[in-house]
Amino acid sequence: PRKGVKYLVDTTPYMRVLPEEYVLPLQPKINRMSAGSAAIPVIDLSGLDGPVERRMMTAEAIASACAEWGFFRVINHGINASIMEEMLKVVDGFFNLTLEEKMKYASEDVMNPVRYGTSLNTSKPHALHWRDYLRHFGHPIHTSFHLWPQNPSNYRDVAKEYLEEIWKLALKISGGISKGLGLDWDYIEKSLGEGCQIMASNYYPPCPEPHKTLGLAAHSDHGGITILMQNEVDGLQVKHQEKWVAVQHLPGSLVVNIGDYIEILSNGKYKSVEHRAVVNETRTRISVAVGHGPEMTATVAPASPLVDEKSRIKYRPITYKDYMRAQQSSATRGKSPLQAIM
Ligand code: SIN
Ligand code: FE2
Repeated sequence: PRKGVKYLVDTTPYMRVLPEEYVLPLQPKINRMSAGSAAIPVIDLSGLDGPVERRMMTAEAIASACAEWGFFRVINHGINASIMEEMLKVVDGFFNLTLEEKMKYASEDVMNPVRYGTSLNTSKPHALHWRDYLRHFGHPIHTSFHLWPQNPSNYRDVAKEYLEEIWKLALKISGGISKGLGLDWDYIEKSLGEGCQIMASNYYPPCPEPHKTLGLAAHSDHGGITILMQNEVDGLQVKHQEKWVAVQHLPGSLVVNIGDYIEILSNGKYKSVEHRAVVNETRTRISVAVGHGPEMTATVAPASPLVDEKSRIKYRPITYKDYMRAQQSSATRGKSPLQAIM
């Protein structure tokens, strides 16, 4: 397994030139001016706790954000500022462990419940990206908690608290999405069964010649709802009307996007949106993305109330586990794993 970009940077003093294997054949046109960024919707989630008319208005705001962008930022989301800060700290602490310690978690098996790794896919030449990551399952917590990193010493406690809070938030947002689709508030929640939560923490060190590579290549997420937190360094971009739009960080907010599971469940009414991460020359970016989907054995298929004679079923049924494995193993990513079941 590869050692990762942080190790490369730490052991190469004064790196001025991007190592050849990180130079992407098709260099991304990076628009750092973030045109249109201000338009990415901001939704006040306290509306989902309000009286029924306010809840309905919030569900409608979520529905138009899902239809137009597939991405939105949420404020008044109920996640404590201090647990957000602590989570970023333990993630930073993990990546700052010795290489030997991190490599204990290295795995090439995409279904492994805990994985330290680098890039999106290291099996193809010219597929290296400027990112190290730590991925592990969250909810249901008992299946993987005993495998999570034990360093930093408070990692497990902090990550457990953070992921439990985020799980509750994901269910709340899924209520708004359900209602916005014309389904019962708890339709999506029920469709998840026991559900599945996966965290990917990303570490993007400063990069020489950042315009020649990417932190993370374009992809859509396999789950239903991803909730993303980051440090103060921007880098996330979303594809909107065929253009890349930079997502500006709004302090204290979280970024939410819908993934393939919601696209399928909505029978294509909502599209999971491609996104990527760019890197920069001077600052380390850290992000913590948490995806939420159904239990592994669930069959992923359009919601029956959204299918009638007029709107044929647009996706072939597949178990979530098989879909996730295919998506995680795809070398090109983008939205090709989803297209394969259409
Ligand atoms: C992701 O797509 O999982 C993370 C993107 C980011 O680092 O902002
Ligand atoms: Fe993603």
